[in-house]
Amino acid sequence: MPGLARLLLSPPSCRDVGTLRRVVEGRTVLVTGASFGIGEATARLLAEAGAEVLLLARTGERLHAVAGDIEAAGGRAHAYRLDLSRPEDIAPLVAEVERRHPRIDLVISNAGRSIRRPALAAAERRDLERSLAVNLTGPAALLLALLPRMVAQGGGGVVNVSTVSARPPAAPRWASYQGSKAGFDLWVRSVGSELRDRGVWVSSVYLPLVRTRMSDVAGLYRHAPALTPLEAAQAVAGAVVRPRERVAPWWLAGQELAALLLPGPLGRALSHLETLERQREGRG
Ligand SMILES: NC(=O)c1ccc[n+]([C@@H]2O[C@H](COP(=O)([O-])OP(=O)(O)OC[C@H]3O[C@@H](n4cnc5c(N)ncnc54)[C@H](OP(=O)(O)O)[C@@H]3O)[C@@H](O)[C@H]2O)c1
Repeated sequence: MPGLARLLLSPPSCRDVGTLRRVVEGRTVLVTGASFGIGEATARLLAEAGAEVLLLARTGERLHAVAGDIEAAGGRAHAYRLDLSRPEDIAPLVAEVERRHPRIDLVISNAGRSIRRPALAAAERRDLERSLAVNLTGPAALLLALLPRMVAQGGGGVVNVSTVSARPPAAPRWASYQGSKAGFDLWVRSVGSELRDRGVWVSSVYLPLVRTRMSDVAGLYRHAPALTPLEAAQAVAGAVVRPRERVAPWWLAGQELAALLLPGPLGRALSHLETLERQREGRG
């Protein structure tokens, strides 16, 4: 990405593998959603820096392909199939992971799904349930199963791969995505504030648009400036190297301040855009 666009988009990042290596070499890192996109790029980057990576997602063949590439390059990787929307699968999976790996130093909670649809569309109820399962209750259940071991081993870290959309203002057509991502963000930060004195830190990385399978679905953003998956992974690496509660592009604070100070005008502007979109679609 050109320098100016990167400056505008990127959250603070770690682009130096040597710096990342000093923090993660020899550590065990579990990455959810490691079969595609940001999770895949993050797992590859962490493995390059010497971490042993545990790759979780539904698509087994992709996980094995990524793990194979990492091992061929001299790294260590293990593939675990898990559907986060099936809560009954989480405890057996965590039991297997804990049997095979004596400690987990870091969890990158990245798996997610995005959907943009009018809230009153017939499918919205199903969208809401799926989004809550993959973006909120599934990752929360996984962490509830993993955190006791982390506390017992003396600590660890959790990076929440979040989105600038999890922060105000609320945008039309994003109810399921925004609601589920914002809910998980608050949940995990609350857990972080509870466990900080027991050695567990939590960092939320609020990413802008990233060019992946997820963002490709919304043709709307095809020409918008976006990070590459590697640049997003470097932002995640930034949170690993220097854990902070919040890692965000510099302009996010401005967006939040505008939502706080100018809720009326901002709300009316967003509502106007929605009216125009509905008219373009011929739905009045
Ligand atoms: N792309 C963006 O513009 C953007 C911006 C800000 C934040 N984010 C966040 O970044 C994260 C990764 O998104 P991405 O852009 O890399 O999307 P992606 O390429 O679609 O990857 C999503 C990952 O989540 C996994 N996943 C989806 N449903 C799952 C389920 N039920 N159980 C287990 N794993 C599941 C997918 O694997 P399987 O399909 O194999 O299960 C895949 O590995 C998401 O949390 C998203 O909210 C993305």
